[in-house]
Amino acid sequence: MSKDWWKNDAAGIPKIITETPGPKSKAMHASTTRYMKGLSSQVKLFPVCFEKGFGITLTDVDGNKYLDFSSGIYVTSLGHCHPKVSEAVAYWARTLMNAHDFTTPVKEKLMIKMAEILPDGLNAIQLYSDGTSAVEAAIRAARAITNKHEFISAYRDFHGKSLGAVSCAQMYRGETYSYGPTRAAGFYMVPRPDPYRPLWTKKDGTIDTDAYINFYETFLKESTVGNVAAFVLEPAQGWAGSIFPPDDFFPKLRTLCDKYKILLYDDEVLAGMGRTGEWLTLNHWGVKPDIVTFGKSFGNGFPVTAMVVREENGGALEKISASSSYGGNPMACAAALASIEVIEEEDLLNNVRTVGNYFMKRMTSMKANHPIVGDVKGKGFLLGIELVKDKNTKEPFDEAGKLVYQKAFRKGLAWIPAGHILRMSPPLIMDEKYAKMGMDIIEEAIAEVEKEFGYNN
Ligand SMILES: Cc1ncc(COP(=O)(O)O)c(C=O)c1O
Repeated sequence: MSKDWWKNDAAGIPKIITETPGPKSKAMHASTTRYMKGLSSQVKLFPVCFEKGFGITLTDVDGNKYLDFSSGIYVTSLGHCHPKVSEAVAYWARTLMNAHDFTTPVKEKLMIKMAEILPDGLNAIQLYSDGTSAVEAAIRAARAITNKHEFISAYRDFHGKSLGAVSCAQMYRGETYSYGPTRAAGFYMVPRPDPYRPLWTKKDGTIDTDAYINFYETFLKESTVGNVAAFVLEPAQGWAGSIFPPDDFFPKLRTLCDKYKILLYDDEVLAGMGRTGEWLTLNHWGVKPDIVTFGKSFGNGFPVTAMVVREENGGALEKISASSSYGGNPMACAAALASIEVIEEEDLLNNVRTVGNYFMKRMTSMKANHPIVGDVKGKGFLLGIELVKDKNTKEPFDEAGKLVYQKAFRKGLAWIPAGHILRMSPPLIMDEKYAKMGMDIIEEAIAEVEKEFGYNN
């Protein structure tokens, strides 16, 4: 199949023919939310109803067609309804939908393919249906591997919404109602380096990675009972705004983990499977984790996730009753296998690196030209633009974030932001023409918001 399968459909976008959200969207959303509750802030800020997705476009029920800079929510990374993935799922939907965790031909192929793309020796695998379940399984696996029970995660990491996963993050703050203590006993959080907002700096003002590592070492002695099973970290923080650590952070953390016999658990649910131009984002820094989780892009929209530990620790998965009702069903395996094959066949890791360079160049020029763009960040197709009220104080500019989000959406860009960091997650198939189109829309929206708030540029 040609890798241009999506291009005809994209011709002529964005196509906005009604006010947005349009009348049908509004009516359908009102009728749905009569019953459906607990929506994300993105949806509340722009309650559009989508009817169709193909490649890099999304079409709403009023017939407006948007350029997609969200991939669902970092999920449909090969474009909506990639024909190879859809066909693979459809075949197994007709042939065998579920056989618990028995082996199937498509599972055999997926296991072999995964072992091929994963770092050497990282190949003891179990499959799940959502990222959170994979994270929960990873926490249990870490306990089983080490016979230890404490976990350290980082400020502004996100790992899911069940009680174990939520204990690796801070989800509720401010006036948001909390349904109880959000962190179970034995779960701790530490700061991790954000180059734009460093907690510790060297004399020359650059971020001091060693200071973070030294603090962790003190923390291990003073705050834990010396039973830390794992550091649980996103390789780059997705939800927090596409925040990448300095290049020396993970290598140094790996050394610290080895010194104290602590596992390094790399949660690649959001950043993995090609989004930053590598199968694992941690590959950028030559660091091999002990545990990895995948999700989101893994099945390009079909719910399938994975938890992987090193071969020598595979026995731990026998101790934790690792299987589940839906994990590894044939449709899920087919979606994951086809997705990996598409990344290989369409040379998408390479595309992500090349077009990713364009994104970064473009965002860097926005930073130079716009008073409210405090920082730009990212690798490949995992991108963030941080809006501030003042470049000196770096005060977050949430109101501007919301407005830019809404304005760009009205201009035909379906995307993710909700806070002061504009987050972008375009499908990995996107070429420079459409990358430019999206960036133009964003820059126009930023300029309009600056004008509204009285900034001159
Ligand atoms: C890094 C990370 N881990 C885990 C999860 C949870 O995945 P899911 O929403 O599929 O349960 C997410 C979701 O955004 C995530 O970003």
